[in-house]
Amino acid sequence: MATVSFDKATRVYPGSTKPAVDQLELDVADGEFLVLVGPSGCGKSTSLRMLAGLEDVNGGAIRIGERDVTHLPPKDRDIAMVFQNYALYPHMSVADNMGFALKIAGVNKAEIRKKVEEAAKILDLSEYLDRKPKALSGGQRQRVAMGRAIVREPQVFLMDEPLSNLDAKLRVSTRTQIASLQRRLGITTVYVTHDQVEAMTMGDRVAVLKDGLLQQVDSPRNMYDRPANLFVAGFIGSPAMNLVEVPITDGGVKFGNSVVPVSREALSAATEKGDKTVTVGVRPEHFDLAAEADSAKTLSKDAPAGLAVTVNVVEELGADGFVYGTAEVGGETKELVVRVNGRAVPDKGTKLHVVPRPDELHVFSSSTGERLSN
Ligand SMILES: Nc1ncnc2c1ncn2[C@@H]1O[C@H](COP(=O)(O)OP(=O)(O)OP(=O)(O)O)[C@@H](O)[C@H]1O
Ligand SMILES: [Mg+2]
Repeated sequence: MATVSFDKATRVYPGSTKPAVDQLELDVADGEFLVLVGPSGCGKSTSLRMLAGLEDVNGGAIRIGERDVTHLPPKDRDIAMVFQNYALYPHMSVADNMGFALKIAGVNKAEIRKKVEEAAKILDLSEYLDRKPKALSGGQRQRVAMGRAIVREPQVFLMDEPLSNLDAKLRVSTRTQIASLQRRLGITTVYVTHDQVEAMTMGDRVAVLKDGLLQQVDSPRNMYDRPANLFVAGFIGSPAMNLVEVPITDGGVKFGNSVVPVSREALSAATEKGDKTVTVGVRPEHFDLAAEADSAKTLSKDAPAGLAVTVNVVEELGADGFVYGTAEVGGETKELVVRVNGRAVPDKGTKLHVVPRPDELHVFSSSTGERLSN
């Protein structure tokens, strides 16, 4: 087992001036499951390939345990990688696929057989050991690819979107299997995905990348509760957090017909930058319907408190319902998503008056995007 550190690791591809990965600083603990997540092209695979030794590092260093591996060839790094396409050898049986790396390493046949059978047992592949990959389902092939990594007993597992070839249902069950397997084996793992739900459900911690720059590293819970900036706020969570630019008023922000209290620190941080607005973030589950909310101060006696949202689409999911609507905020029409009771959803075309719960409000600088609230 081992720790992994990226120490200002940078990759600039030949012919490009902009780094694909820009001074990445990331420490993965021994036995930890760390997920790298971000949109297409943000540098996830490049980061993983630098760690694997498949990509040159143009600045900074990479360490596995105490060893500086920055310029070591892949075979000397004691890692095992699982790729998106599995890369199984079609002419070899499952057992030979799983044992191939050990054979190359000169391990004797009996030892290889023992390790392959152990791994097959863990992965529920024992009855398929003599089959060729083409006679397996997608999920079984995925497990063979995992098995090939497990038999090598590496210090670190690297996985690049290993579930993306599976259908939606199998992806969900396989992600649970991989996460529990990793916990059982206790092998430090760096896992790449563009799917934030996968990241949040599998990772001990999640690292969000954008344009080659690390945005935040945190536990899934903290990432959800305290996103560090507007990008992370919008990226993590489904349906996404509502982000609305609103004027600053005395002691709070003006949200439709209500003043929602915001911490003095957050407001003064904004005004110090010369901003007249802040961008507030409200998760769909953190709106109260105005009739139920007494905490909001109503500005006008006549108009109902809160923000009027016109209901355009209602998604009924059983326990919950999601209202997709539009609201006028600061002279602009904004799309909003509000979670409602799935047993009492409003009709299309009607209006809801919503008020964000003040203690669940996220406040970001409109000019820099950074988080201002605690
Ligand atoms: N071999 C290469 N030569 C030049 N540029 C490359 C090369 N590989 C990747 N890039 C560029 O580097 C950036 C990061 O690519 P990378 O493959 O790491 O993204 P990613 O986060 O894995 O994306 P995806 O989710 O689509 O797999 C992209 O802008 C990409 O175009
Ligand atoms: Mg990739």
